[in-house]
Amino acid sequence: MASPIVSIQDGAENSQQLLIHPRSEGISVQGKLTIPGDKSISHRALMLGAIAAGETVIEGLLLGEDPRSTATCFRAMGAKISELNSQRVTVTGVGLGNLQEPNDVLDAGNSGTTMRLMLGLLASHSDRLFTVTGDSSLRSRPMSRVVKPLTQMGAKIWGRQGNTLAPLAVRGRQLQPTHYHSPIASAQVKSCILLAGLMVDGQTTVTEPALSRDHSERMLQAFGATLDIDHHTHSVTLTGKPTLRGQKVVVPGDISSAAFWLVAGAIVPNSDLLIENVGVNPTRTGVLEALEMMEADITRLNERIVAGEPVADLRVRHSKLKACEIGGNLIPRLIDEIPILAVAAAFAQGTTVIKDAAELRVKESDRLAVMATELSKMGAKITELTDGLEIIGGYKLKGAEVDSFTDHRIAMSLAIAALNAHGKTIINRAEAASISYPNFVDTLTTILQ
Ligand code: S3P
Repeated sequence: MASPIVSIQDGAENSQQLLIHPRSEGISVQGKLTIPGDKSISHRALMLGAIAAGETVIEGLLLGEDPRSTATCFRAMGAKISELNSQRVTVTGVGLGNLQEPNDVLDAGNSGTTMRLMLGLLASHSDRLFTVTGDSSLRSRPMSRVVKPLTQMGAKIWGRQGNTLAPLAVRGRQLQPTHYHSPIASAQVKSCILLAGLMVDGQTTVTEPALSRDHSERMLQAFGATLDIDHHTHSVTLTGKPTLRGQKVVVPGDISSAAFWLVAGAIVPNSDLLIENVGVNPTRTGVLEALEMMEADITRLNERIVAGEPVADLRVRHSKLKACEIGGNLIPRLIDEIPILAVAAAFAQGTTVIKDAAELRVKESDRLAVMATELSKMGAKITELTDGLEIIGGYKLKGAEVDSFTDHRIAMSLAIAALNAHGKTIINRAEAASISYPNFVDTLTTILQ
């Protein structure tokens, strides 16, 4: 694993430090690579497999810590899930409505998707008691966004600070049909309500202010649920009590993971990378549009549909980037890519403004605050706004000691910034990358020239 440019060493309290020290004569990133499976699709495949009747086969599952948390929770409620691997995982589901009361607390770890989607399912399982918790990051993230609509459906949920923070206790009940107008464009909120609606007699509708990722809608339909989707009003209606049957799910590569290499290829001189098998679902490709606005040289090749999801290979070559403005309806379509787009902006000529992104404050870390402080340590001209970031690009970055704040996307974004910085960067608590990208450092080592 060790290369002269990239190495890992022990940090404080069982953490790891990632050291990146580009040669002064320059480096580039070159070659072909594949990325791990999509995190959102991996969670949903495990969950729908767990509640469907019969067997689900998942190919390409992400082996990160987050899907492992989902698998552990659903095993504890009776689903039979084979050992996780990226080739073939089998899930024998319990059948709709048959999740068992677990004999211990369900631990979602660092995963907001696990906790929020699972809460929809738990709330609708009558007469069973569930307790859910997570790590210190997840226990500080707002759960009111799902507790509120679930309560509107009749759910009984208790938790800290007025039932807004985990640990949460859920007493499952028969829920009622609802039409929920979500104040935020959040796929986690939308999916939670739709999953709760599976056990409702009648219809459950969610309307969101802008379209968030639609993997739940696609997969629910593939498993046998009836959904009515209104693209104009961003509304989804699910008809309750469907027969869900196990399916084969092929998980494409995660565009949120590809984003690190897209930006690496774009900012490091003489780079040329081919990233194969990337999910390009239009609700997730905001990062490609933002990089196109910045005049990055990215080509989509071999576009195809794999198991209901659009997939392509992406080629990126180094180019001169220009500043751009990112906001509005684009935000939910690139929500997880804002930290790495901030890195791209630091190398783009002009002032990039990212706005309408206050949601970033309640992710695994406060990503606006953390990116502003950590990239500033490397010499970037970056200012935190209430709902975004302003980055004056084109200043040479220098190596510095920075911290991931245990946030996987921060760790990897800082690593990419370090590739184009002068001198050595030390990223503390870099092991966080394994939440969504366990082989990140290996891949980085392989493509560095
Ligand atoms: C996810 C939705 C997004 C995203 C998260 C995964 C999902 O969160 O940030 O990493 O799988 O539904 P929100 O929908 O709450 O913004």
